Amino acid sequence: MERFRIDGDADRSYVIRVDEAEGPTDELVRVLIEIDLQTFSESTFSTYTAAAFLRQEKVYLLRADDVVIGTCVLMRCWDRPNEVMVLSMGIRPGWRGRGLGQRFLNGVLERLKTQGIRAVALMVGADDRRAIKVYEDVGFQHIQTALEDKRTGETLLMMRLQLQDDAPVATLHR
Ligand SMILES: CC(C)(COP(=O)(O)OP(=O)(O)OC[C@H]1O[C@@H](n2cnc3c(N)ncnc32)[C@H](O)[C@@H]1OP(=O)(O)O)[C@@H](O)C(=O)NCCC(=O)NCCS
Repeated sequence: MERFRIDGDADRSYVIRVDEAEGPTDELVRVLIEIDLQTFSESTFSTYTAAAFLRQEKVYLLRADDVVIGTCVLMRCWDRPNEVMVLSMGIRPGWRGRGLGQRFLNGVLERLKTQGIRAVALMVGADDRRAIKVYEDVGFQHIQTALEDKRTGETLLMMRLQLQDDAPVATLHR
């Protein structure tokens, strides 16, 4: 747990922490959908899928004091159960660009390590320079172009991080 001070607001500091979400409460479903809508041009979640991910997968929350300001949703890989994929990660707009993305991701990776997870994969828009910088800074490597969306013209890159032990990243790539 650490304190965080927003630039120019020296009188106010926040306790920043990363928590694992527990179960699909109405409030968490609402927050997951809300932060997603503030983050991506297409919505990732319906009420049903938000509740399903909260129930079945891992969802981490970035909190400032007790308010959720970021979410990170992870899915376990069926072929390699000790690997996960980041389905979505987002921070509320007013909190972006202050170093919290990197802190959030490091907090999530620490927890995954203690749970024996070996590798983490994700897809990110090739034009999303800020997100790519955050992922590279914590050690993710570019693996391949994952998808070219003909409708939007967006290219998605696949990135991967070997968290611990044995096989090098390249040999894990399908
Ligand atoms: C991506 C996201 C989680 C990152 O969190 P954040 O708190 O904004 O990021 P940070 O402040 O920790 O780090 C941003 C870094 O990118 C750099 N950066 C910002 N804009 C940049 C740009 N256009 N090009 C390159 N680097 C850039 C910053 O300088 C900073 O690097 P530094 O730590 O070396 O100074 C957040 O911005 C977000 O929610 N964005 C919208 C959703 C999204 O894109 N999610 C990821 C898709 S998978």
